[in-house]
Amino acid sequence: MTALCIFFALVSFGAVSSARMIVHESRPAAPSGFVSQGAAPANNLLTLRFALAPNNLAGLQTKLASVSTPGSPEFRKWLSKDDVKSFVQPSAQTVAAFNAFASANGVKPTVISPNGDWMSLTLPVSQANMLFAANFEVFTHPSSPQKLTRTLSVSLPSQLVGHVDVISPTTDFVNPNPHLTPWTNVNLAKRGPAASCNTSDASVSRECPRAWIPTAPATQPNNALLVTGYVDNWAQSADLSTFLSLLRPDIPSNTTFSLLTIDNGTNPQGPNDGSFEANLDIQYTMGIATGVATTFLSVGGPPNIPGFAQSLLDTTTFLDGIDNPPTVMTTSYGSGESDFGISLATKICNGYMALGARGISVLTGSGDGGVRGNHDGGSICGNNTFFPVFPGTCPYATAVGSTIGFRPEVAVNFTGGGFSNFFPAPSYQSVPIASFLKTIPSDFQGIFNTSGRGIPDLALQGWNFRIIVGGEEELESGTSASSPTFAAIIALINDQLLAAGKPVLGFLNPWLYSTASTAFNDITIGHNSGFECAASSVAFDAAVGWDALTGWGSPKFDDLLAAALA
Ligand SMILES: *[C@@H]1O[C@H](CO)[C@@H](O)[C@H](O)[C@H]1NC(C)=O
Ligand SMILES: *[C@@H]1O[C@H](CO)[C@@H](O)[C@H](O)[C@H]1NC(C)=O
Ligand SMILES: *[C@@H]1O[C@H](CO)[C@@H](O)[C@H](O)[C@H]1NC(C)=O
Ligand SMILES: *[C@@H]1O[C@H](CO)[C@@H](O)[C@H](O)[C@H]1NC(C)=O
Ligand SMILES: *[C@@H]1O[C@H](CO)[C@@H](O)[C@H](O)[C@H]1NC(C)=O
Ligand SMILES: *[C@@H]1O[C@H](CO)[C@@H](O)[C@H](O)[C@H]1NC(C)=O
Repeated sequence: MTALCIFFALVSFGAVSSARMIVHESRPAAPSGFVSQGAAPANNLLTLRFALAPNNLAGLQTKLASVSTPGSPEFRKWLSKDDVKSFVQPSAQTVAAFNAFASANGVKPTVISPNGDWMSLTLPVSQANMLFAANFEVFTHPSSPQKLTRTLSVSLPSQLVGHVDVISPTTDFVNPNPHLTPWTNVNLAKRGPAASCNTSDASVSRECPRAWIPTAPATQPNNALLVTGYVDNWAQSADLSTFLSLLRPDIPSNTTFSLLTIDNGTNPQGPNDGSFEANLDIQYTMGIATGVATTFLSVGGPPNIPGFAQSLLDTTTFLDGIDNPPTVMTTSYGSGESDFGISLATKICNGYMALGARGISVLTGSGDGGVRGNHDGGSICGNNTFFPVFPGTCPYATAVGSTIGFRPEVAVNFTGGGFSNFFPAPSYQSVPIASFLKTIPSDFQGIFNTSGRGIPDLALQGWNFRIIVGGEEELESGTSASSPTFAAIIALINDQLLAAGKPVLGFLNPWLYSTASTAFNDITIGHNSGFECAASSVAFDAAVGWDALTGWGSPKFDDLLAAALA
């Protein structure tokens, strides 16, 4: 009887304090640059998204390892939309727990993803503060007029623990200006003759193929390349046309891209609407992946959605719902990993895992601040704590760094590289990372996470790409030049695989770190101290084999193609 009494007592205690709160995520302060303008008005409506726990994430992980690892009997047997859904959709208990919580609190949940793993609730700030032990404030950042409603801490009522993986936006503070090019390159000198490929300052064009890339048009349908566009970066078809006339006169200058939009994204074509980022990305995918159908995905920004992190997320959920997804996707945007917070970064990364399993190669630049985040300069230069850039740190993305010059080809100072604090090194990487860590001097002062996933996975040219923006020729640099170029290379290889009746490359990394690892020019010179930080500031040095500046090095097209067809 005594035992029974205690049992009842516990149950009633649990019911009375159904609001017992477990801290889900918190940060001591907003990242530098963000300034609080005070408490968010209590009656403002807030739309919060909730990631429901997948029913079998470990199953998807195992399946992906099996379909992406050379030698496996299931190698490159990519999954269908419904196959992926069977792993990532939440269990009935999880959905029931969430719905019960919402209904007990008088809010109506909306399912916002095709796999049913995201729900949203719209509620007043005061209620959100109460239900999630939060303190929503309004923040501003000097690089954007946007006001962000965020909290430094968010908790889950105990009955949702294990059912909800992410509440967003809450503790994510991503720089509103996340494109991957060093800040100062925006005003580079205009137009100049293409320099000789033998100088270390070679303007990159097809005149300078370090890795010879074929110009013959691709022939296979169902091999679409997707270029993502975020935070109001728009691609111009008139500029593409001018670019093709200048650098690819052999292909029709009216060749264009198709447009997809989500989150009320747009792609205006007015004389001042083009951005260097989107035009760089479109021009160096379409200018190299001859004949590959290319789509520009314009993802709307605030006020339609809260910010860049949610844009990355919405890209993955959008593609989850498509029957015939693109075969390669390139993203030239990123921000310091810690800005995202671990739960949101993990959820986005798991979204890439699902895309990789569908047979999509997910590529991104590795960051443009060397060892110090996305953009270096100013007070950051004296900071000897290294911080890596997401989404490249996701082990299901392929992170592309940048090189410069041809004889020798070296790591450029801004090439993002380092080690994740969120994601442990995946097994495909552990041996090359261990070798690289042995090359670091014993008195090395940099502080980084030796157990984390290392980036980049590879690198290629990323300096002085000739592009057209608003009718004007410009030179742009950054890992946002390198990632689209590698996406084009992958698309051309996929074309040949499809022509040979073989499946596309899909999730690349286990292949890149095994049978393809010799298809790269090893880059052994360079120091990634950043574009603005003094070359003497602490950073990694390139080394023989994989390193945290250039990964395996720059791709040799023919060797990579041979490895793909093998
Ligand atoms: C670059 O230098 C190499 C070796 O010095 C030479 O063979 C080649 O012709 C040069 N190429 C150009 C474009 O100047
Ligand atoms: C491009 O121009 C050619 C020749 O003028 C024309 O035949 C073709 O239909 C055009 N293609 C597109 C996509 O507009
Ligand atoms: C897009 O715009 C429509 C019409 O203005 C609006 O109803 C909808 O909520 C918007 N979508 C997003 C994601 O903001
Ligand atoms: C260095 O940067 C990290 C990441 O932004 C930050 O947490 C840390 O406080 C900085 N350290 C110094 C000494 O500025
Ligand atoms: C280092 O990375 C591991 C994951 O590999 C993580 O668990 C750990 O918290 C990280 N350490 C720090 C100090 O961020
Ligand atoms: C970084 O490299 C670029 C390209 O070589 C160069 O223009 C720039 O001056 C370098 N930055 C520093 C601080 O040395």
